[in-house]
Amino acid sequence: MDLILKNGILVTSEEMYQADIGISGEKIAAIGTDLQDNTSKIIDVTGKFILPGAIDAHTHMALAFGGTVSSDGYLSGTKAAACGGVTTIIDYAMQRSGKGIMETIEERKSIAQAEVCVDYGFHCIITDLNNDAILDEFESAVQAGITSFKCFFVYKKEKMMVDDGTFLKVLLEADKVGAIVNIHAENSDAIDLNIERLLRNGKTSAWYHYVSRPECVESEAVKRAVHWAVSFNKPLYIVHMADKEGIEAVTLAKDSGYRIYAETCPQYLEFTCDVYKREDGRNFVCSPPMKGKDSKIALWDALKRGDIDTIATDHCPFYKEQKDWGINDFTKIPNGCGGIEFLYPYILNAANAGVISFSKAVEVCSFNPAKIFGCHEKGSLSIGKDADIVVYDPDKDYTVSAKHMHSKCDHTIWEGKSFHGFPVLTFVRGKLVYDNGKFMGVPGFGKFIKRKAKKTQVTSV
Ligand code: URP
Ligand code: ZN
Ligand code: ZN
Repeated sequence: MDLILKNGILVTSEEMYQADIGISGEKIAAIGTDLQDNTSKIIDVTGKFILPGAIDAHTHMALAFGGTVSSDGYLSGTKAAACGGVTTIIDYAMQRSGKGIMETIEERKSIAQAEVCVDYGFHCIITDLNNDAILDEFESAVQAGITSFKCFFVYKKEKMMVDDGTFLKVLLEADKVGAIVNIHAENSDAIDLNIERLLRNGKTSAWYHYVSRPECVESEAVKRAVHWAVSFNKPLYIVHMADKEGIEAVTLAKDSGYRIYAETCPQYLEFTCDVYKREDGRNFVCSPPMKGKDSKIALWDALKRGDIDTIATDHCPFYKEQKDWGINDFTKIPNGCGGIEFLYPYILNAANAGVISFSKAVEVCSFNPAKIFGCHEKGSLSIGKDADIVVYDPDKDYTVSAKHMHSKCDHTIWEGKSFHGFPVLTFVRGKLVYDNGKFMGVPGFGKFIKRKAKKTQVTSV
């Protein structure tokens, strides 16, 4: 073996126990008590926890959006990932009218590969079916490891929204080839109507971002998406859920045995819409917006009872200067917030405080995203899996400051947030990429993850 981490407490999605873990090359080679090997480097991790690396299944590195580009590209975004214990990202590649899926993916890959410091995969956002030609590409996309497609029910003016008919075609075709559909569920027409009325009445501050996209805007779209997935009995993954009624619809469908998966993000668990009343409210502008206190409580409850399957970041930061475009008009604020460096610390901090278990944190940040999105080599501490490992010090105190982030962004919504417990080592496929505050990785080391589809169904609907 090349390395043994000794005397740690292993955390899996099911249990915690004291053990050593041995790494050989890129893989976990042994787990046991008192592992010995003369050739091994040994790190004593007594008192520390050993976790599978987090998989952030929702990122937008260098996203062209809102007339600009998000501030973290694949280099700074994955540096930040490594320093927070994220060992794999699944980024969104956006197919546009006239473009093919593989063309879109290859284009993104050619930007990402030289820069990525952790492993990566892509979901493909479908914005236009190119007269249904795109549907014929689903099978080859799956063969190439793209096993998830996303639709937006929003962003009509940006030409990213799909109508219900297109969504249904994507839902049905994806299932045929064993892929899953992700949906951003907000009602675009209701938002546009609200925006028009608000601007006409001079309501332009960041608070009106929330007022234009209140709870009902999200719940209608979630219920619509769930309705279609349930009616056709197809799996569906709802991204960045922020609303109580939406999550109740998910619970109902899950309880009836349907394969509806829910993702939320740390920002929806931490903040409420009150942040938009702050002087720097525009820095919190993302879509969907943070909702009222009832939604925040409902999300925590759903997480605890197992109705939230994954926690991801929707990492999409913009510089202060970009956010400032909307000082006098909330519709000009680029939508998105960063947070990849604080995903695992945030959830593990909740575990450390006894709000959820450490196994639940591993389940939603690593095990479930690996399972849902077909990252078969990842997501658990077991022999033969990739040695994507985080060593977490439950006693290390850390207070967030943009000055010390590895993201390129010049501010963070997490400024001043204190964590009791923080990752101290991150390994990606056995390679140390983060050591106690210091990035140790190499750009281009990250490997494209050819994800596996659930099944390949040949019957047509
Ligand atoms: O505000 C957000 N979430 N920006 C990124 C794009 C999206 O909708 O996920
Ligand atoms: Zn979205
Ligand atoms: Zn997103």
